[in-house]
Amino acid sequence: MTAGICRGRVVIVTGAGRGLGRAHALAFAAEGARVVVNDLGVGPDGAPGPDSPAGRVVDEIRATGGEAVAHGGDVASGEGAASLVAAALDSFGRLDTLVNNAGFLRDRMLVNLDEDDWDAVMRVHLKGHFLPLKHAAAHWRAEAKAGREVAARVVNTSSGAGLLGSVGQGNYSAAKAGVVGLTLVAAAEMSRYGVQVNAIAPAARTRMTERTFAATMAAPDEPGAFDAMAPENVSPLVVWLGSAASAGVTGRVFEAEAGRITVMQGWHPGPTADRAARWSPAEAGETALKLLAESQPPQPVYGTR
Ligand SMILES: NC(=O)c1ccc[n+]([C@@H]2O[C@H](COP(=O)([O-])OP(=O)(O)OC[C@H]3O[C@@H](n4cnc5c(N)ncnc54)[C@H](O)[C@@H]3O)[C@@H](O)[C@H]2O)c1
Repeated sequence: MTAGICRGRVVIVTGAGRGLGRAHALAFAAEGARVVVNDLGVGPDGAPGPDSPAGRVVDEIRATGGEAVAHGGDVASGEGAASLVAAALDSFGRLDTLVNNAGFLRDRMLVNLDEDDWDAVMRVHLKGHFLPLKHAAAHWRAEAKAGREVAARVVNTSSGAGLLGSVGQGNYSAAKAGVVGLTLVAAAEMSRYGVQVNAIAPAARTRMTERTFAATMAAPDEPGAFDAMAPENVSPLVVWLGSAASAGVTGRVFEAEAGRITVMQGWHPGPTADRAARWSPAEAGETALKLLAESQPPQPVYGTR
């Protein structure tokens, strides 16, 4: 068996046929995990694609001596999510880590955002996180109740757009902010069963970003220079969070990009006023302005600087 921090673990990575998910799947396999490589094989906007690229990533893992199976289902459907967890249990007899990563974009300014663009993006990111998480959580709860030791890990994928907002991405920002809320609740609910749940906000060069942010995402010209925006740079943190080595870390959000890892700190109460009686609207406004003057300004929304 391969050495590594995920030796003996079974890991599901959704949307792992390309981009960040593929890099995570290969990195888990390199650390000794057996991997279920999920990908529905859709276009950059979620339109049906010709085939699932999951099999090619499985071939890459097997070529290096690792173990992996492909799953071509839709993670945002009940059947797809249930069969995904079943694929891990049927193929490898256990499940230790779930990396929710699959997704796509339908970027538009709010006034041009169709209901279908809203529904499709909310569905793939939010429901596509919730359903695999629910099926995996049910398995881990049953394991814990049967008296078996569980050291399970979930890594969800948010985005800077979900943490700070992003112009032209109202649907995506709302979905990715929702992923953070789901992460906090799942971490709180599942800790008693030995399940840790964290989220990352990555940035890397994939088909999702290589055109829109072409200059920022470009690979370096000089041979041997650090390719900062390669998706492989995000995976080490994901692998560690998905391993038993991250014991004690749950309900946290990390930005991961290039050579940088940042703990993102969430909402904290700022300046407050309480007079134990109802304010009039004018008084409430006056007080709000005073408190705002004492508060820290928010981080700029992406696309406004
Ligand atoms: N690339 C970045 O800089 C960046 C930044 C922030 C967040 N993210 C997030 O990281 C994740 C991966 O993005 P990426 O950049 O690697 O994109 P990508 O398009 O390269 O890969 C996403 C994969 O998900 C698959 N997929 C889509 N819908 C699916 C479904 N319903 N079921 C199963 N598979 C499905 C696609 O076929 C695709 O292979 C996404 O959640 C994205 O929102 C990426």
